[in-house]
Amino acid sequence: MPTFDNDVFLRALAREPTPYTPVWLMRQAGRYLPEYNATRAKAGSFLKLAQTPALASEVTLQPLARFPLDAAILFSDILTVPDAMGLGLYFAEGEGPRFERRAAEESAIAALEVPDMARLRYVFDAIVEIKRALHGRVPLIGFAGSPFTLACYMIEGGGSSDFATVRRMAHERPELLQRLVDLNASAVAAYLNEQIRAGVDAVMLFDTWGGLLTTAAYHAHSLAPMQSVLAALQPAPDTRKIPAIVFTKGGAQWLDSLASCGAQCIGLDWTADLAAARRRVGARVALQGNLDPIALLANEAAVADAATAVVRAAGPAPGHIFNLGHGIVPATPPENVAVLIETVHRESRAMRAEGSGGSRGESVARMSPER
Ligand code: CP3
Repeated sequence: MPTFDNDVFLRALAREPTPYTPVWLMRQAGRYLPEYNATRAKAGSFLKLAQTPALASEVTLQPLARFPLDAAILFSDILTVPDAMGLGLYFAEGEGPRFERRAAEESAIAALEVPDMARLRYVFDAIVEIKRALHGRVPLIGFAGSPFTLACYMIEGGGSSDFATVRRMAHERPELLQRLVDLNASAVAAYLNEQIRAGVDAVMLFDTWGGLLTTAAYHAHSLAPMQSVLAALQPAPDTRKIPAIVFTKGGAQWLDSLASCGAQCIGLDWTADLAAARRRVGARVALQGNLDPIALLANEAAVADAATAVVRAAGPAPGHIFNLGHGIVPATPPENVAVLIETVHRESRAMRAEGSGGSRGESVARMSPER
């Protein structure tokens, strides 16, 4: 079994008691960091950056050099998988991701296949390089898009404000949509299993758009294929079971189904009531989240208060991983990230001390030192 200098993240995932609440941030390596922008400029483009293992490793470690984060996340993108299927991913400046070819017609969907994992070799090579550079400091999270969220981009040919083409297909051609998400589930399972073989310590499914669906469609087109991905995950080469996190943005209303989908941890966005979620799932799963990423644009005292509120809402029961409710935004001041992490670590230690007989008044007084 591997040992880590800091395994608090893995302990929280297993719902074991931890001395404090671990924290990592979705998109923790990204444009809010000047050093990321410098490496990206050196690479020439986001895709070049993600496809060059040495550079992907460099940016993965950048936020860990600045902040006492409790986990690293592979630097890559969810859209590498449809790219490997031959859809031709590109990023038009200031426009987000686009595909040269869409998979919206029956013939285009029928022609798709699970890609040869050799086409994603750069991802697995990056994992090996990152693990070497991390040297056991903290665990490394691997990830993939959910079968449905990948289908959204594949059908639409890029991002969209409402993914209306996809939602229309869910009503008009549900069997065609199902065929696509089932294919994606096979591809994502193969992809995550290769990430596990390369050395990731946990995996996460990003279901950014599952929350757009009706309840019935969510269960059929998003949750069921995620369940089949989770069921297909293999143990690590050293026989460890690799824990999985599932994050459906807007999915808190389906928490009961999510808590029994086979994942060890459920991610929540900032609209979810974390305290109610904990009561609801009990000790079934760990929970991850759920600070509004926009809170990080506020002043430092407000950042500290917002972070404390999330720690307290999660409560002292084992199994909370602090995160944002969605990715960090580029306008975030890095100093606020430092305040956030320091607050989460301090307030969660204080909350545990209270639970074991410490003085409550003291830690409440520490909650907002600037006010
Ligand atoms: O969390 C991390 O630090 C790991 C890296 C990571 C990226 N994308 C890097 C990235 C992860 C986990 C993702 C996931 C991802 N990618 C999702 C699911 C999570 C979410 O945010 O909803 C989605 C939907 C995508 C697709 C994607 N990639 C979009 C919509 C964009 C453009 C949005 C933007 O911020 O410009 C990307 C590009 C992207 N992926 C960037 C990064 C750091 C910005 C690219 C740049 O440097 O210009």
